[in-house]
Amino acid sequence: MPKVTYTDHTGESRVVEGTTGDSVMETAVRNGVPGIVGECGGSLSCATCHVYVDEAQLDSLPEMDEMEDEMLYGTTEDRRDNSRLSCQIKLAEGTDLHVTTPATQT
Ligand code: FES
Repeated sequence: MPKVTYTDHTGESRVVEGTTGDSVMETAVRNGVPGIVGECGGSLSCATCHVYVDEAQLDSLPEMDEMEDEMLYGTTEDRRDNSRLSCQIKLAEGTDLHVTTPATQT
């Protein structure tokens, strides 16, 4: 079963088991993880699902497309090299991902 560890800006973490094919955003929202709003439901129009991906895991994710790249300039907290929109990260069997949520996204 895929697994995502969500750490908030205070350093508090929670581990959530997800479903293959769901996004990191959907998994957070379904499980009441704070810090990921997902206002647009994953249609790439809100950027309220911004997360920082563990740098060591960045290369294991599919590349972001142009639209995600553009939306990342509209986040409430500054974009970093490891920024992604969590609605665009789909869970695969065996996924074990660690993301940190921005302080401004509560
Ligand atoms: S949920 Fe709106 S852009 Fe990701």
